[in-house]
Order: sequence, then structure tokens, then C-alpha cells
Amino acid sequence: MSDKMILQYLKKAQMTHELNQNELTALLSDTTIDDTLAAAADQVRLKYVGNSIHLRGLIEFSNICRQNCMYCGLRRDNLHIERYRLTPSEIVKLAEKARRYGYKTVVLQSGEDMYFSANILAEIIKQIKEMDMAVTLSIGERSYEEYDLLKKAGADRYLLRIETTSKKLYEALDPAMSFNNRKSCLFNLRKLGYEVGTGCLVGLPGQTIESLAQDILFFKQLDADMIGIGPLIPNQNTPLAKAAKGDFTLTRRMVSLIRLLLPEANIPATTAMETLKADARIIILQSGANVVMPNVTEGDYRRKYALYPGKICVADTPAQCRSCIGGKIKSIGRYVAADKGFRQHQPRLT
Ligand code: 5AD
Ligand code: SF4
Ligand code: FES
Repeated sequence: MSDKMILQYLKKAQMTHELNQNELTALLSDTTIDDTLAAAADQVRLKYVGNSIHLRGLIEFSNICRQNCMYCGLRRDNLHIERYRLTPSEIVKLAEKARRYGYKTVVLQSGEDMYFSANILAEIIKQIKEMDMAVTLSIGERSYEEYDLLKKAGADRYLLRIETTSKKLYEALDPAMSFNNRKSCLFNLRKLGYEVGTGCLVGLPGQTIESLAQDILFFKQLDADMIGIGPLIPNQNTPLAKAAKGDFTLTRRMVSLIRLLLPEANIPATTAMETLKADARIIILQSGANVVMPNVTEGDYRRKYALYPGKICVADTPAQCRSCIGGKIKSIGRYVAADKGFRQHQPRLT
């Protein structure tokens, strides 16, 4: 691909926020374009979502999971982690603390732990909503009726990564899971009026650049409100123990291209990035991202919520994370948003 063509695609992305699969593939494959791409994404980020950064307090409330994803440390066949489940009142107390640290949103995340019925979760959500916080759920696949009940209880947003849009790869990575069901979960959430977050892993064995380009086109098709991208970090207690790590620069190009194509989206600088590289979140915040999800889980539970090894902040307290991230944000001339950080729909100016 000539440099001229690449720059033409970049310009097109900046002006129209549209690229086709081939153009995306060309940009994703170009290892010399990272900084230029990041600078373009940073400009689009400023224009559409401004300089504020939204913080979401992450509560990892159960590491019990009925699924068996090949890459994930919470998979049910992993006997090497100590399982835990917080009680509803512990969860609500953590949310209260998160509020005191100034977070306007809590993300309730867990494995697919069926102990937490929609009714139990609804009670938790109602109590948190009384504190005037936005509630994001990240608890995996549930029925339309359950999503409906949770929305009616007050949940505002839902995160469910598609992980990969290659049906073949998706189903190979968990033979018991259905790609079509995952997709319908996302469209059900959309229909029910949630802000919908999705995303993918970068560096899955067998994943191609074309498939990553497809992932971006899928985010556009869904008109995702939030998109979280992270590199695969091989976990020794999973069948992917020997897999290679996801590539940092490729993951960064993904984030930049997603900002260019979905200019209004809320895009986190994910924790997994920082496992690969110190200060990755700062780099990613300057490459298109505008959200950080600091951990508000307390004590040993942080370590036990072991999706992948080398997780950052396992020995830190919620207060330390809050001040650490506040300092980092200030150091790059940005500031922490004062509002709840819903997606802002803007007239698309080109
Ligand atoms: N490396 C990186 N990310 C992982 N996740 C699960 N296992 C890993 C891993 N080994 C991600 C998945 C899931 C999110 C909660 O964590 O993308 O959606
Ligand atoms: Fe469970 Fe999610 Fe891990 Fe899959 S990725 S095993 S659904 S926690
Ligand atoms: Fe946890 Fe920096 S964000 S210590």
C-alpha cells in the first residue's frame, strides 16, 4: 500500500467517519502510521467528546462463572482460583464508597453467576439508583425478560463484548457458546433502551486483521455507545496459556480507528493495556479514548478477580486508584468530568 493511499484513507476517516473493510485493513496493517493515526483520533475525540474524562468505578462482585471461555481465568474449569461472591449489601456499600470518591457511575461486573437472579440484581440496582448514580451492568448473557427487568429497575448501561465478530473463532473459543445468541443479546439491549457497550479482544489465536476490521464495522452497525478494546493476556490456568500476547501497537491502532469511525462513542483506556505497558492508559487516552474504569473492589477480591495475570492495582486501595488516575489525567491537561457521562449525540459536522 502506498503512503499516499494510506494518507488518503486517513483523511477520509477524519472527514466522513466512514471506511470500508479494505481501507480499515490497510490502516490496521500499517505499522508506521500509529502516531499519525493517534493524532487524528485525538483531534476527533476533542471535537466530539471534549477534554473531559469519565471515570467509572468498577465493582467486581463475583468471580463465579458458568461459562468456559478458553482465554479467561474465571472459566468454570479453572480450579486454580478461589471463588468469591459479595453479598448484595456489600455491593451497595462499595457503591456508596465509590460515590464518596466522586464517581458518578458504577460498573457492576461479574462472571455469569446465576446466583444473582434478575430480582436480586434489581434490588441492588434500585438501592444504588437512590444515590443518584448511573449504573452499568457487565454480567454476561441473559434473557430478554431479565434485561428488561434490570432496565426497569434503573440500570442505564450494559457492557457485553462481542470478543470477536468471526463466528468461527468465537465458537472455537467457547464451543458451548453461540455467536448468534451473543449478537441477539446486544440487539436486545439496544431495543430495551440501554446505552450499549461492546468491544473485542486483540490477539486471539487465529484472529486476522480483516477480522478486526470487521469488528469495527460491527460496532458501527450496532451504533455502539461504548467500545472497550483490550489485548489478549494469556492466562496460565487456561487452554490459551501458551498463546502470544496481544500487540500493544495494533490495539492502539484499533482504538484510534474506532474513534475515527464512531466519533461520539465513549471509549475506555482499558486496564489490560496497562498490563502490557506502563502508562498505557495515558497513551491510549491520547490516542482516541476518553474513559477510565478505576477499580473500587476492595482487599483480596481484586487479586481473585483474575481474568488474566499481571493485573494492575491488585495491591492498591480504591482511594489510591482514584488519586493515581486523577494525577495522570491532570498530567496530560485533561480533567475529570463532573457529569454522569452519557453519550452525547451531536449533529455530525464534517
Ligand atoms: N486477556 C485479556 N482480556 C481478557 N478478558 C477475559 N480474559 C482475558 C484475557 N486473558 C476480557 C474479555 C471479557 C472482559 C471482561 O475481560 O474480553 O469480555
Ligand atoms: Fe465467564 Fe466472561 Fe470469563 Fe467468559 S469471559 S469465562 S463469560 S467471565
Ligand atoms: Fe490503581 Fe493507578 S489506577 S494505582
